[in-house]
Amino acid sequence: MILAIETSCDETSVAVIRDGCVLANVVASQIQLHSEYGGVVPELATREHLRNLLPVARAALAQAGATLPDVSAVAATRGPGLPAALMAGFTSAQALAFVLGRPLFGIHHHEAHLYSPWIGGEPARAQFERFEPNVSLIVSGGHTLLVHVRGELDHVVLGGTLDDAAGECFDKTAKLLGLPYPGGPVLDRLAGQGNPEAFDFPRPMLADDGHDFSFSGLKTSVRYFLEKRPGLADDPQALRDVCASVQAAIVEVLAAKTVRAAKWLGVRCVTASGGVTCNSALRRELAARCSKRGFDLRLADPALCTDNAAMVGILAERKLRAGHLPTAFDQEIKPGWALAA
Ligand code: KG4
Ligand code: ZN
Repeated sequence: MILAIETSCDETSVAVIRDGCVLANVVASQIQLHSEYGGVVPELATREHLRNLLPVARAALAQAGATLPDVSAVAATRGPGLPAALMAGFTSAQALAFVLGRPLFGIHHHEAHLYSPWIGGEPARAQFERFEPNVSLIVSGGHTLLVHVRGELDHVVLGGTLDDAAGECFDKTAKLLGLPYPGGPVLDRLAGQGNPEAFDFPRPMLADDGHDFSFSGLKTSVRYFLEKRPGLADDPQALRDVCASVQAAIVEVLAAKTVRAAKWLGVRCVTASGGVTCNSALRRELAARCSKRGFDLRLADPALCTDNAAMVGILAERKLRAGHLPTAFDQEIKPGWALAA
């Protein structure tokens, strides 16, 4: 039984995993706390993690019907992420593993995201018997990465964003439109009633053959667009049309480049995770493009798209089974840890 902890950003999460089954995955989200600041405030996030960790861990153990002596290994996100936030979870995991005399696995947050599309069903179970090599898109408020997962525990980064993450582009556009933080879900909802072809926004790096992304120019073009049309966002239908048009631009770039990478590599499976994978248009667009090419598409369940400890625990279990060595107790967090290129 693995007890896993995730505290890399603004979600405090503890999961309990046994035999590839997620027995509990409790997440305490801090969105409400940070919304009045329009973004995550690291100091507040850390204090909140420290406040929430024990109650969340207790709730996860209770849900799993387990007690601490049942835990045979401890896992925690070691990086990348906000330094003090990582320290809250990783140090707690170190202490717990030390006291219990169990191995500790320090997990890479993005590597964990790669496996969340392979957790599903009821009860949530890792579905590695169906695992296929894939191209995986990780899109959230902090990261945008395209990864070639050549096999289990074997991946290479194809590209990433050169500036803003896709979620940041959603959030900043929403802010320009006067929508509350985090803007992605609100923008998605408004876009549902808007015309995606009403306005033409740039598709940055879509024509580029490489696997990198760039979203800061799109955000700037939305700013200029709105500056030239004062009062536009006060018209409810125009607001919905802007949301739909910006969303269409972000989604086209993400979906087209992901599916193109799979085709280029000769891979027949595409996966996606991270908060932006909750976006309804992105889910639809990836489904349409994959179906056209006959590719399998595995999208993380919306509850597992955002940060969670289940994916951390599942990855730790795969590593344990594959004979990977635990993380030594003198190791520290790695806030800037890059996934293997
Ligand atoms: O993975 P996540 O919870 O946290 C990290 O950033 O690590 O992702 C949060 C991001 C935010 O930028 C949020 O606006 C975006 O995911 N997001 C969405 C949607 N739901 C969440 N963006 C677009 N459409 C959505 N439905
Ligand atoms: Zn994440």
